[in-house]
Amino acid sequence: MAEKEYTETSEAQIAVHWGEEGYYMPSVKFIAQANMTDETIYDRFSLDNFPNCYKEYADMLDWYEYWDEILDTSDAPCFKWFKGGKINACYNCVDRHLDEYKNKTAIHFVPEPIEEGYQHITYQELFVRVNEFAALLRDFAGLKRGDRVTLHMPMVPELPITMLACARLGVIHSQVFGGFSGRACADRIVDSGSRVLITTDAYYRSGSLIDHKQNADIAVDLAGKDGQTVDKVLVWQRYPGKASSSTPMADGRDYFVNDVLKDYYGARVEPEKMNAEDPLFLMYTSGTTGKPKGCQHGTGGFLAYTAGTSKYVQDIHPTDVYWCMADIGWITGHSYIVYGPLAIAASSVVYEGVPTYPDAGRAWRIAQDLGVNIFHTAPTAIRALRKIGPDEPVKYNYEFKHMTTVGEPIEPEVWKWYYEYVGKKKAAIVDTWWQTETGGFLCSTIPAIKPMKPGSAGPGMPGIHPIVYDDEGNEVEPGKGIAGNICIQNPWPGMFQTIWGDRDRFVDTYFARYCKDPKSTNWQDWPYMTGDAAVVAEDGYVRILGRIDDVINVSGHRLGTKEIESAALVVEEVAEAAVIPVAHEIKGKEPDLYVSLKPGYEATDELAKKVSDTISSEIGKIAKPRKVWIVKDMPKTRSGKIMRRVLAAISNNKDEGDVTTLANPEIVEEIKKMVQG
Ligand code: PRX
Repeated sequence: MAEKEYTETSEAQIAVHWGEEGYYMPSVKFIAQANMTDETIYDRFSLDNFPNCYKEYADMLDWYEYWDEILDTSDAPCFKWFKGGKINACYNCVDRHLDEYKNKTAIHFVPEPIEEGYQHITYQELFVRVNEFAALLRDFAGLKRGDRVTLHMPMVPELPITMLACARLGVIHSQVFGGFSGRACADRIVDSGSRVLITTDAYYRSGSLIDHKQNADIAVDLAGKDGQTVDKVLVWQRYPGKASSSTPMADGRDYFVNDVLKDYYGARVEPEKMNAEDPLFLMYTSGTTGKPKGCQHGTGGFLAYTAGTSKYVQDIHPTDVYWCMADIGWITGHSYIVYGPLAIAASSVVYEGVPTYPDAGRAWRIAQDLGVNIFHTAPTAIRALRKIGPDEPVKYNYEFKHMTTVGEPIEPEVWKWYYEYVGKKKAAIVDTWWQTETGGFLCSTIPAIKPMKPGSAGPGMPGIHPIVYDDEGNEVEPGKGIAGNICIQNPWPGMFQTIWGDRDRFVDTYFARYCKDPKSTNWQDWPYMTGDAAVVAEDGYVRILGRIDDVINVSGHRLGTKEIESAALVVEEVAEAAVIPVAHEIKGKEPDLYVSLKPGYEATDELAKKVSDTISSEIGKIAKPRKVWIVKDMPKTRSGKIMRRVLAAISNNKDEGDVTTLANPEIVEEIKKMVQG
């Protein structure tokens, strides 16, 4: 198989890594109430019992027709789970809870402005709102089973309502992170072939009411130029009946949802009986090229896996108040704010704004007010909360029984603050390592069974069997202290099914490198390559070092360096661009951008700003580089390849190694002076 090119400056290479830490035990009180305390789960989910072990997760769901084949590998590596089964995700997350829980809160919505208080949406209300909106989508927007629809929505309850309404109809939703630009939204509209865009007029962030509708106009316009017509834009209003955005509505194209919904009062929509393997949603993520990949997640497998892991790893009981602070625009929110928790009748908190707004105590006041007892966030948020208010959490009277960290490696020091100050030494912590592609957790601890170890994600989940390979494809044994490319030996139900419309890219990116036989229909021949480097300790606990490819994890968000570089090249004056990851105190990593100019242009601060602004408008503010360094020339090999490794060493104040073989070694000193002063 074709050798893929791997990056010469990966996150994993610049990882500052820590040693093995000691174990922390969960409290007796936690264990006494935990959903999963039976250690034999690891045997039940051993490779010998694969794939039948996953029946346990499937049985947490209600099926219209029970499946007859647990895993179909005939089109490997596009695996199909629970074949023959018929199911509806919305029914499982809403309808089936009504008998017992209709009066219980499904979603606690916390608007950012404090004076707006809290909203508590019961399962009954969720049922009503989802049904009415589903009727609107079907009868007004003309959407039907199998259609794709793009959502570009912030953290408001209308987002899960929209997702569930789509799921009810079998419409495949593709939610684009609200902070992404109109351009980024357009690319996803085009790739998914959406003719309907669902958005919101405005939302609060850090105290400002942000005009979001303007992004829809840009997105529709750019998508049209790229050949995808959007004929309807459905606009939820932050304040129903009141204009919060000055962007005008396009006649015959844009509709306020709240106006149209009046026609669907009392409507009920029969959930579609979907095949277990029908797609539920697309989630675009960055890869090694400029074009984001639409990860296609299936219905039965995804829901079973997220329900099972929400129950066993998140330890959610219907009586708990669960707050995952991620954005629903990312996979964490799909799996662990919406589908997983709601499938097991959780009360899930949705917070509109910034956790540190207006002050360091906000998050802890929300926890105190709502009685949150399960808390889930990313190291970047933990670092930020610690920095601005290290003693703040202990001032508030909440009690977490369980806390999660997700999205990036967490430094043991930060972990310990989380444990001592946020968890008040009472909460069990799980560090969950996984990816957009994987739908749910890959490595973590089952909190009542395995002890915690700061800085380590933990062993493979029950039914997930990691293996580390070196570049030659030899297995790296655990306990040797040697890093390698971490892969998963077996498929699992939460795993994505393919890249939307690009099976070849799916196979090339995730399987080609370590596939034992490209013609094989045995799952054993198709280890899944995660794209992360990892070290596995003797006890099987995994420490993730970071990406081995051209992907940077900024504040727990994935960005492709090639995406940022292509955005920089949109600027007329720019000739070449190179992005490298730099270590950052709060964000974990941050992109540093080097550009060289076409002849005749001069390096100015205005030009640097123009490049930076272009990246914000092309991708979104999260991709904004730490700094745009305009250099005379890039350090290059004699064959003309940009030496990103050298730039990364300079940005990270590391030794740049031997540069004498470069075509232009003298440029290195010059750039170094500029960057390091
Ligand atoms: O590098 C790993 C890192 O985040 C990448 C996946 O990013 P994304 O698809 O955006 O999903 C984030 C939320 C699941 C991984 O390839 N990563 C994720 N979780 C952890 C992590 N690195 C270390 N520890 C984690 N717990």
